[in-house]
Amino acid sequence: MFPVEKIRADFPILQRKVNGKSLVYFDNAATSQTPKVVIDAIVDYYSNYNANIHRGVHSLSQEATDQYEEARIKIQHHFSAKKVYEIIFTAGTTHGINMVASGFSELLENGDEIIVSALEHHSNIVPWQMLCEKTGAVLKVIPMLQNGTLDMNSFDEILSDKTKLVFCNHVSNALGTINPIKEIIEKAHKVGAAVLIDGAQATPHIKPNLQELDVDFYVASAHKICGPTGVGVLYGKEQWLQKLPPYQGGGEMIETVTFEKTTYAGLPHKFEAGTPNICGGIAFGVALDYMNTIGFDKIAVYEDELLQYGTKKLQEIDGLTIYGMSDKTAVISFNVDGIHPYDIGVILDKLGVAVRTGHHCAQPIMNFYKIPGTVRASFAFYNTKEEIDVFITALQKAILMLS
Ligand code: ALA
Repeated sequence: MFPVEKIRADFPILQRKVNGKSLVYFDNAATSQTPKVVIDAIVDYYSNYNANIHRGVHSLSQEATDQYEEARIKIQHHFSAKKVYEIIFTAGTTHGINMVASGFSELLENGDEIIVSALEHHSNIVPWQMLCEKTGAVLKVIPMLQNGTLDMNSFDEILSDKTKLVFCNHVSNALGTINPIKEIIEKAHKVGAAVLIDGAQATPHIKPNLQELDVDFYVASAHKICGPTGVGVLYGKEQWLQKLPPYQGGGEMIETVTFEKTTYAGLPHKFEAGTPNICGGIAFGVALDYMNTIGFDKIAVYEDELLQYGTKKLQEIDGLTIYGMSDKTAVISFNVDGIHPYDIGVILDKLGVAVRTGHHCAQPIMNFYKIPGTVRASFAFYNTKEEIDVFITALQKAILMLS
């Protein structure tokens, strides 16, 4: 049996009350909660070895450097990257995507084509639109189907030898759809295109093997995986990272500097100008250790139980529509006839239940369904069926008040 009560005791925030009620936290797709072991790692860093890294001969700097580089190795192993220097620390998923987009502005030519999926978060749409404006490249879209999956026949039709880049999220943040990324990567590679996969929503539920996927770039954020905000990872295959120019100039990313010419440091430092989020990087490694100790296989099975249970309960409510009924992670996006999602979210909060409402930074999906937004309940491995019952009762109250 999945030890959820033991796990819940690791998360101090789950003990608190909101508006006088025990917190039911179902906004995990926005950010996950933080276990005590990660909070302790942050306190330990600032209490005992806060120092700048890669720069000092003194002991504190050495200790901080060792811990930070240890975290990079943990991330490499977690994602099954071939080389540790293929792991670049970033400020988060959006930062990683922008690093790649900025690098490709020097590699693309007028008329080249970029493909994105219709299921993207704005952070995987806007940087490519900006890149197209800069380079004259053309943006094409893999359309979506009513059940919230991608229309892969259309992908075959728009893919051509003009395609230079393909971008897709591993899991849709708004619907939870698990996209067929292996197939997308294989097909894109056949025409010589590079592929970036946005793993922000997949990584809390799935442990990806990046070598097996043969993906060119993969990005993720620590805060979705029980780590702190403001830190993430860009994985890039060595040959791509060598080819892309640095994203930012500054300290640490150089080999030599004179006023005549600067030469750049090797990987990963070429992409890591300035003092990074040292504590965040270390805590990211601790968060991965924590989740791996529980086990991603077990997490996936347990979360699927929550998803099936929540879906069944919601389907019993009259006038409720769930968007995206496909192979998916534990995310349920829904609306109730005649009620604005925002109003439901406000009343649920008064009853202690945290969900996200709105377009979820995925307006094209909302436009496809012709809706202003949805209510999104997203579950994590520390949630329970009892919490789903509380949520359903609260939702029924909200519907009664708003009808
Ligand atoms: N991208 C995050 C979400 O889906 C913030 O809520």
